[in-house]
Amino acid sequence: MQSAQVFVTAGFAGALNLAIRGLQLEGRQAWMEDPGFPLTRTALGLASMTVAGVPVDADGLDIDAGIRSAPEAALAVVTPGQQAPLGMTMSLLRRISLLDWAKQHDAWIIEDDYLGELQLKGRAAPALASLDQDGRVLHIGTFSKTISPALRLGFIVVPLAMARRFGEVAASLAPAPTSSVQHAVTEFMHDGHYLRHLRRMKRLYAARQAALVRCLNELASESIGVHAAAGMTVVAAVPQSVSDTDIASRARLFGLAPVPLSPWYTRKPGQQGLLLGVTNLNERTVAANCSRLLEIVRGRH
Ligand SMILES: Cc1ncc(COP(=O)(O)O)c(C=O)c1O
Repeated sequence: MQSAQVFVTAGFAGALNLAIRGLQLEGRQAWMEDPGFPLTRTALGLASMTVAGVPVDADGLDIDAGIRSAPEAALAVVTPGQQAPLGMTMSLLRRISLLDWAKQHDAWIIEDDYLGELQLKGRAAPALASLDQDGRVLHIGTFSKTISPALRLGFIVVPLAMARRFGEVAASLAPAPTSSVQHAVTEFMHDGHYLRHLRRMKRLYAARQAALVRCLNELASESIGVHAAAGMTVVAAVPQSVSDTDIASRARLFGLAPVPLSPWYTRKPGQQGLLLGVTNLNERTVAANCSRLLEIVRGRH
């Protein structure tokens, strides 16, 4: 990789927009994971792209389903490391078939590596971009999860053949964020501070995630249960008959901030569920908060 292939951006969102402009994808068709990050769907839509939601299973994106539903797609946006929001890692076979698809269809792949090395169990899988022999993958990283979303700092690594064009687009439309933020993060990375920070956060978040899973399992309720421990969240299952957006807004009145799962689905109606963040979880109040959430799901608040 050469430094000319790397562009510093205003987070993932800035990088995605730079990619759309750099690849001239406006008006084309795109695949995104179903369920998948709502902001990606909005950004693609704002670029007049037609978005096809492609289902994910235990191996990640179902490429055959994508080919069947949107054969003309020029782009696939994926989270191969830890699928957002369900957490599975894309299998090697799927990675290879996604790369084959891109090569055969002259299409592009955007790898949204929003968690990077921040994986709570086992070691993070290598980036999809590391398997790319044909210059089809654009790899986007962000410091939103590893340090803070307030930094609005991310980066994109583009194939060498696209570096000059991206340089022009970035200079004219998407200049990098202030250099003081970049310098501060560079300093932080020096002498291993960033790696130590990641190691510490992994231990802390893994303990918090385990505490939340334990509490939900102890409730042993049909109204709320653990569907998956995924990324920095726990995906809680709730009955399909309740509205997760309604639960989320009622929970906010009690200072809880679950994220409703159904808006992450392109297919409607989406699966009802709650994404419970573990990063700011307080182990002393988690049991009471789980019980309160159960009451809210049961409609008692
Ligand atoms: C799937 C996914 N991608 C990217 C991001 C980060 O976006 P940004 O760097 O624009 O804050 C997030 C943050 O919530 C995310 O969940």
